[in-house]
Amino acid sequence: MSRVTKAVFPVAGLGTRFLPVTKASPKEMLPIVDKPLIQYAAEEAIAAGIDELIFVTGRNKRSIEDHFDKAYELEAELTADGKKDLLGMVQNVLPNKTSCVYIRQPEALGLGHAVLCAKQVVGNDPFAVILADDLISGEPGALRQMVDIYESCQCSVLGVQNVQREETRSYGIVKSKAGGPRISHVEAIVEKPVPEQAPSTLAVVGRYILTPRIFSLLENVTPGAGGEIQLTDGIAALLSHEKVLAYEFIGKRYDCGNKFGYLQATVEYALTHPELKEKFLTYLKNLKL
Ligand code: G1P
Repeated sequence: MSRVTKAVFPVAGLGTRFLPVTKASPKEMLPIVDKPLIQYAAEEAIAAGIDELIFVTGRNKRSIEDHFDKAYELEAELTADGKKDLLGMVQNVLPNKTSCVYIRQPEALGLGHAVLCAKQVVGNDPFAVILADDLISGEPGALRQMVDIYESCQCSVLGVQNVQREETRSYGIVKSKAGGPRISHVEAIVEKPVPEQAPSTLAVVGRYILTPRIFSLLENVTPGAGGEIQLTDGIAALLSHEKVLAYEFIGKRYDCGNKFGYLQATVEYALTHPELKEKFLTYLKNLKL
């Protein structure tokens, strides 16, 4: 029986919806209160039992590598100043046993292409894909729930959620037939269909567990929606070889790829933050608009 121990984080995107803040810094480094989006994604992976983080990066993404690296000067200063809490915070960004690999995606040719860039590092193992701009709250985390399903079914699992019909053009949409509580068998998947052609309103939201067969299929995928090599098209090809499940995870998802979703996440995470929640709630209640 195989286990999922690797996660791929495609982080090469340009983040154009957040310009100008993303001109020189990655959208994955946008903070939700006091942690960057990519750290929430890494923590969700680690809580799911993953110990190898594979980042598919591009230009202007150096700060992601720095974030997960040892910060010698900062640690020396915090040690000298006796600031133990802050030191712990900086040192515990990742557990010691977690390793990071960075792969450069030379051109932003699409999500499927980004995942394919990780082929050599992933090898012949099942792996997770996490899109950091889909932030998902809840305990246990969405990926943990999906790994549990993988462990009993040993097949690919897509994290899905119902969306409004008018939103189908923003997502990979699955057609599936019921298989159990929150679980269905994927029969078809299509990238960003217009609402009239969408086979359902069940959307894939940034969490995947995939079997390694996806790589050889992605090698043969031609540009699809938006002229990009789509992961969705690789998964569509996978359906004729293997069982693929869709799983409606428990948890709230924030679309931090757009400004409104990002603001919602900021407000709601601040309202649960131990240091801030009371003060922030009082502030919101007294806010006169
Ligand atoms: C990507 C995928 C899409 C998926 C979405 C989830 O699209 O291509 O299938 O539903 O992420 O956020 P993007 O948001 O990068 O356009």
